[in-house]
Amino acid sequence: MMLKLNLLFVAILFSYTYAADPISCKAVQYTSTFNDNEQFNVTSSASFSLTINNGTTYVTATNISVINLITNEQATGVCYYGVCCNITTTNSCTFDVRDTFVLLYANFTNNVTFTTFQGLVADDGTFSTTKLFSSTNMCLNSFSNDSGTISNHSICCTSSTLAPVAAINAPQCKKFKSRTTIYNINDNFSIFATTQLIWEIIGRTIVPSGFTDTAQHYFACYFDHSFFNLPLACDELLTVHNNITMSNDTDAKTLVSVFYLPKSLTIAGINGILTARLLYRNNQLLMSEGTPFTPQNNCWYSNAPWYPSPANHSTSVSFCCQEF
Ligand SMILES: *[C@@H]1O[C@H](CO)[C@@H](O)[C@H](O)[C@H]1NC(C)=O
Ligand SMILES: *[C@@H]1O[C@H](CO)[C@@H](O)[C@H](O)[C@H]1NC(C)=O
Ligand SMILES: *[C@@H]1O[C@H](CO)[C@@H](O)[C@H](O)[C@H]1NC(C)=O
Ligand SMILES: *[C@@H]1O[C@H](CO)[C@@H](O)[C@H](O)[C@H]1NC(C)=O
Ligand SMILES: *[C@@H]1O[C@H](CO)[C@@H](O)[C@H](O)[C@H]1NC(C)=O
Ligand SMILES: *[C@@H]1O[C@H](CO)[C@@H](O)[C@H](O)[C@H]1NC(C)=O
Ligand SMILES: *[C@@H]1O[C@H](CO)[C@@H](O)[C@H](O)[C@H]1NC(C)=O
Ligand SMILES: *[C@@H]1O[C@H](CO)[C@@H](O)[C@H](O)[C@H]1NC(C)=O
Ligand SMILES: *[C@@H]1O[C@H](CO)[C@@H](O)[C@H](O)[C@H]1NC(C)=O
Ligand SMILES: *[C@@H]1O[C@H](CO)[C@@H](O)[C@H](O)[C@H]1NC(C)=O
Ligand SMILES: *[C@@H]1O[C@H](CO)[C@@H](O)[C@H](O)[C@H]1NC(C)=O
Ligand SMILES: *[C@@H]1O[C@H](CO)[C@@H](O)[C@H](O)[C@H]1NC(C)=O
Repeated sequence: MMLKLNLLFVAILFSYTYAADPISCKAVQYTSTFNDNEQFNVTSSASFSLTINNGTTYVTATNISVINLITNEQATGVCYYGVCCNITTTNSCTFDVRDTFVLLYANFTNNVTFTTFQGLVADDGTFSTTKLFSSTNMCLNSFSNDSGTISNHSICCTSSTLAPVAAINAPQCKKFKSRTTIYNINDNFSIFATTQLIWEIIGRTIVPSGFTDTAQHYFACYFDHSFFNLPLACDELLTVHNNITMSNDTDAKTLVSVFYLPKSLTIAGINGILTARLLYRNNQLLMSEGTPFTPQNNCWYSNAPWYPSPANHSTSVSFCCQEF
């Protein structure tokens, strides 16, 4: 009896030390360096916080500093999708992040621009990158050295709340289907376009296949939020089916958006539609913090405006586990 109790105690201790507590990160400190030894040797830093107002996520950057050591120039502004904020007159810039991806470029004098804050995601009320913060992983770093061009991003969580912990023992999902529909609001919600993609989960690799698209005057392309990646699937490049590999050294998050690009390039400011959300926490696949995909609760749903034309179109998304 004593031995059994001891074993139980050890098992509980073990599971405690193994599973880091999930957190919802509400504010981060972002510092980065980039050096190509030619045009840019840039040191950047800013604090970011997020707020949600009536369903829209806003990200505020404060104490922004972007310096190019080669020209000894300080950036005069930061911009998000063409919306710029003059940081010589204010040190607090707020942006509406419609498709969860925070990507700020710095605007120097003479219109020189430089992508400085990237890879930060504000989704479902919390910050992440393609990795997730936890109680034992408060900084998410990425470093690259591309034949001497060095880039080092460090994002540290400075304010957080505990996130719900998923019940264990949910079976692992093997195959998901993501379906995105755009409706014509002014035509009895008739269907404007539908796209679908199948996602197989092999270890920590997500393998897309079975792309379909009914859009008449648009190309549809799926991109994940690790950005500047190749498209995962695209109707102009039917053979392209690039895999996503979720980070294997920490908890991870994968977001995928589908972008509709007009065949006649007349509409600017296209935003993606978030079509898949997958969290990998403590070896489980979740649709959101604390909620695993299970046979009884196998779908994540989302409804959102379509930003090129929010008055005329709405969207609905389902991301469902089809096979456990
Ligand atoms: C909140 O959003 C809804 C739908 O997007 C809109 O109809 C409503 O006017 C908004 N309310 C405020 C206070 O902005
Ligand atoms: C602002 O950023 C600088 C580094 O650029 C840092 O030294 C300073 O402590 C920050 N101030 C605040 C109020 O966060
Ligand atoms: C670039 O910055 C690093 C420090 O981050 C410094 O050691 C290096 O000398 C700088 N190079 C140039 C060309 O300014
Ligand atoms: C920012 O504001 C300053 C001070 O008003 C002004 O001199 C500067 O031209 C502005 N910069 C940009 C990029 O608008
Ligand atoms: C910067 O770009 C704006 C428009 O994008 C243009 O009006 C302005 O002349 C440019 N300034 C310089 C110095 O090139
Ligand atoms: C830089 O900022 C100024 C003022 O905000 C803006 O007029 C200009 O178009 C911006 N340049 C770019 C390339 O975004
Ligand atoms: C970056 O890579 C180059 C070779 O491509 C190497 O000479 C250099 O030492 C590396 N620098 C760092 C900081 O890793
Ligand atoms: C990257 O930056 C972080 C934070 O500034 C620093 O701790 C780390 O040592 C840097 N990594 C490399 C490989 O230079
Ligand atoms: C919407 O449907 C109703 C009933 O089916 C029909 O009377 C109406 O004409 C339709 N409106 C449009 C814009 O197609
Ligand atoms: C994606 O992963 C699958 C399964 O591991 C593999 O067969 C396929 O070649 C990979 N595709 C690409 C484009 O790497
Ligand atoms: C994690 O992935 C990297 C490359 O993606 C690979 O080199 C490494 O062996 C993997 N580690 C484990 C423990 O699977
Ligand atoms: C929305 O539809 C109305 C007619 O119902 C049209 O006048 C307007 O141009 C459309 N707006 C967009 C952005 O497509």
